[in-house]
Amino acid sequence: MKHLLSITDLTRPDIEQLHQLTDSFAEVSKRSIPKVPALRGKNVVWLFYEDSTRTRLSFEQAAKRLSADTMTFSVGSSSVKKGESLRDTVLTIEAMGVDAIVVRHGSAGVPWQIAAWLEGRVSVVNAGDGWHEHPTQALLDSYTIRQERGSLDGMHIGIIGDVKHSRVARSDVLAYTALGAEVTLIAPPTLLPPSLAGWPVRVSHDLDAVLPSLDVAYLLRMQKERMTEHLVPSLREYTARYGLTLRRVDAMREDALVMHPGPMNRGVEISAEVADLPRSVIIDQVRNGVATRMAVLYLLLGQGADKVLGSDDITVPELQEVVT
Ligand code: CP
Repeated sequence: MKHLLSITDLTRPDIEQLHQLTDSFAEVSKRSIPKVPALRGKNVVWLFYEDSTRTRLSFEQAAKRLSADTMTFSVGSSSVKKGESLRDTVLTIEAMGVDAIVVRHGSAGVPWQIAAWLEGRVSVVNAGDGWHEHPTQALLDSYTIRQERGSLDGMHIGIIGDVKHSRVARSDVLAYTALGAEVTLIAPPTLLPPSLAGWPVRVSHDLDAVLPSLDVAYLLRMQKERMTEHLVPSLREYTARYGLTLRRVDAMREDALVMHPGPMNRGVEISAEVADLPRSVIIDQVRNGVATRMAVLYLLLGQGADKVLGSDDITVPELQEVVT
């Protein structure tokens, strides 16, 4: 495994093996010294052209727990401001000596472009490209459901809200269905992609009708600019039809989970009270993000790097603590 660009690159056994590795790194994260020397001497750079809290910080935490060195690139204080191109920026960073580039960019396809420029010399991880994909989010989301329920097989997962502009929705649909779940997209027609040909999903415009059959209600962030684009009449109207309120939670199965990739708009797609209910696993998603990203970096740069994901036995022999 050289890169992680898309969930489409992963089979069900691949994802299951990543989840097993995530179990090991979750165990490391609980230790008094949550650090192992697995990636000592490796250098990882964060190339974020878009804002991020969860993804960037959890990748950084993951790299530190694996003893990797890290470099942070900030667009706002870089030579991008002087007009330096993406290609020149990437080749400049490579010349400094890096083993992996974790990239977030507003344009779909940029991680693939970077991987092509680097011709296999550096691993590339897609940390979110435009409206296209966010594979590590899907890995941590599916891991969280598996942690709560044991398996995704036969589960009914509703992805609710702005699917059209959501890279999380695309990656989640691929991961959830690969793991045996059924997915229903629940949104007004204006917030769905113009074509869903090839998407292995059902579609509903009626949240109240679907809610009682869901095992997971996965809310997407409602981006306020969609209102000015006239995709919804008003946020209040959107919340009335698609917001997860306490009243709606009453209609859910007792063991159904509430999830959200963050950042949340409390009071819009999810009420403040619902976000803090015991059935809400939003903070668990964030916590699992660190162990998931440890597993991904370990696979790309550690002993998993020369193995075939999903078929070779990938062990984690270096999981002894760093002794200082
Ligand atoms: N879920 C997610 O990608 O959050 P950030 O934008 O904060 O990284």
